[in-house]
Amino acid sequence: MTIGSFPNTRLRRTRQAPFVRDLVRETQLAPSQLIQPLFVAEGELKGPVGAMPGISRLDLEELVRECETLYALGIRAVALFPVTPAELKTPNGDEALNPESLMVRSIKAIKAAVPGLGVIADVALDPYTSHGQDGLLDAQGYVINDATCEVLRRQALLYARAGVDVVAPSDMMDGRVGQIRQVLERDGFRNTIILSYAAKYASAYYGPFRDAVGSSANLGKGGKETYQMDPANSDEALREVALDLAEGADIVMVKPGVPYLDIIRRIKDRFGVPVSAYHVSGEYSMIKGAAMNGWVDERKIVLETLMCLRRAGADSILTYFAKDAAQWMAE
Ligand code: PBG
Repeated sequence: MTIGSFPNTRLRRTRQAPFVRDLVRETQLAPSQLIQPLFVAEGELKGPVGAMPGISRLDLEELVRECETLYALGIRAVALFPVTPAELKTPNGDEALNPESLMVRSIKAIKAAVPGLGVIADVALDPYTSHGQDGLLDAQGYVINDATCEVLRRQALLYARAGVDVVAPSDMMDGRVGQIRQVLERDGFRNTIILSYAAKYASAYYGPFRDAVGSSANLGKGGKETYQMDPANSDEALREVALDLAEGADIVMVKPGVPYLDIIRRIKDRFGVPVSAYHVSGEYSMIKGAAMNGWVDERKIVLETLMCLRRAGADSILTYFAKDAAQWMAE
């Protein structure tokens, strides 16, 4: 009996054995596409992150050793997130501009020890502000856009001087990519890459991260909806990306990852530029929690998840599973 093109077309023919599944596979996943986010801390602040089993706040020495291990596993970039002691947090986030800050020292230590490893520095004020917001506040508690950009571009320049390869503004202020690009060009940092958090949503998935860097207590009940995007919006993400590209971004990021696969695909189709996906802390914790309860197969679910982010259009993926995934891929 012939129905439609059956039996001429049997899609199961190309699924019958590993060799042919390999031949028809459309998407590849490799350690070199993964970026490992790393938390850096000193003294009492170092140690395991409660809501992210398997993830630790590393001191400088541990950080350098971890970077050597990651590089040997084929991972080509790390994204750094410093933990700032409470006594150094101020309303204006002054520590962000300290030329001896933990971030500056971390960048220098990694570039000296593992020069081939790409180092990405987050540019935003939330690790340094006493209120936990990404920028400066006016008297009503509103995050002021233009004054914040002035600080951000100085912060970006500080990291460029320290030798960072990539600056990653994660603050969602309007116009900051253009301003950062201008000061980088002006001071001779023509090759510093800007990875902009272009479509960053006001998401509950960042909860464990805020615990890890100690900003959730500072933030209290305050949200970030006046600058991060509404999860209901998709066209607006395209406008954000168009602006950041026009302002000089080299790579654009979508964040969070899996709940926003449609956004990744639209951006890739529309602009054809390098897209990065941030598989964020809450996504890590949900998989980890279920795996620790024996409810899902961690290894399979992680590799599937990362493959799906790639299939959706992400060229690179920031994920707390980068190291584990690289190890699993090597086995
Ligand atoms: C801060 C920043 C956040 C993340 C990366 N940079 C949190 C936030 O915006 O509140 C979240 C990362 C994660 O959840 O893994 N600018």
